[in-house]
Amino acid sequence: MDNPLHASCYADNAVQCTVEVMENVRLARDTYRLRFACPEMAARITPGQFLMLRLAGTNDPLIGRPLALYNIVPAPDGAPHAIDVVYLVKGKFTSHLVRATAGQHVVVWGPLGNGFSAEPIEHLIMVAGGIGQTPFLTLGQEFLGHRQFGNPPRAVAPSRRVTLCYGARTAALLAGVDDFAQAGVDVRIATDDGSRGHHGLVTDLLRQVLQESSGDHRIVCCGPEIMMAAVAKIAAETGSNCQVSLETPMACGIGICFTCVAKVRDASGAWDYKRTCVEGPVFDAAAIEW
Ligand SMILES: Cc1cc2nc3c(=O)[nH]c(=O)nc-3n(C[C@H](O)[C@H](O)[C@H](O)COP(=O)(O)OP(=O)(O)OC[C@H]3O[C@@H](n4cnc5c(N)ncnc54)[C@H](O)[C@@H]3O)c2cc1C
Ligand code: FES
Repeated sequence: MDNPLHASCYADNAVQCTVEVMENVRLARDTYRLRFACPEMAARITPGQFLMLRLAGTNDPLIGRPLALYNIVPAPDGAPHAIDVVYLVKGKFTSHLVRATAGQHVVVWGPLGNGFSAEPIEHLIMVAGGIGQTPFLTLGQEFLGHRQFGNPPRAVAPSRRVTLCYGARTAALLAGVDDFAQAGVDVRIATDDGSRGHHGLVTDLLRQVLQESSGDHRIVCCGPEIMMAAVAKIAAETGSNCQVSLETPMACGIGICFTCVAKVRDASGAWDYKRTCVEGPVFDAAAIEW
């Protein structure tokens, strides 16, 4: 009988390191990019995977926090070297992290979680709300054929088109738009207050892009739960394949504590709790009990 606690991606491939902060720079209002050198992790991590991070030399907060891979910075010889994460200042950990300067130490463990599918697709449509754009930069680079990730490297046949529909409350909170544009991603923006792009919801942009899209497409989505549920509904209505990356709070990140569970349905329609850290964070949107 299958062990219900089995997960295909425990932290078997993970490393834990104390690393030095290289940069901690502001990208947008309350949003920062932290860069640290960790070649072992940079060589293994794939788009949609995450890492846990805590401050070294303090027990406040004691528990690490999950952050998605944002980007990988190569060494002069081209080998994966440093990791970028982008974070929104929210609570205790991130308001401490914002004060970290170059040379200070943080403890990281990863790569963790399953990540996004590498299955080729003609048109990849990435839908992000709030700080949900972070897992998509490397995915866009990969599906546009610019870079490979993982060890051994994942081989992804390039998509014809990669679109990012990115919604935020206001223009000041948009972070990393130039990074996506420079990678060749077709970026569409929506703000709640109309200060940039479409005045309205990111789901309006998604409907528009789906109407324009010809050929096979896949939606990938990350952001507030209410927005991911709305995207899952549109995907169901339009018969689109859709993967969501859940941002449930986590404590251990490695499958032990069950802090991170989400209700996920199996093929028979029955639901069970799944751990987002080892059975996710990426799930088929149609399987989530929203
Ligand atoms: C797989 C994964 C990847 C993530 N990637 C990123 C990322 O790239 N960038 C980023 O900024 N954030 C990301 N997050 C969310 C981030 O981990 C939380 O915002 C983090 O807990 C903030 O820590 P804090 O101590 O500053 O705030 P906390 O003190 O932990 O929390 C502040 C407030 O937010 C609530 N909260 C905490 N965690 C979450 C959560 N996950 N979802 C909703 N509410 C929460 C708390 O209940 C509290 O009200 C990710 C989460 C997951 C699970
Ligand atoms: S965070 Fe502990 S089991 Fe997922």
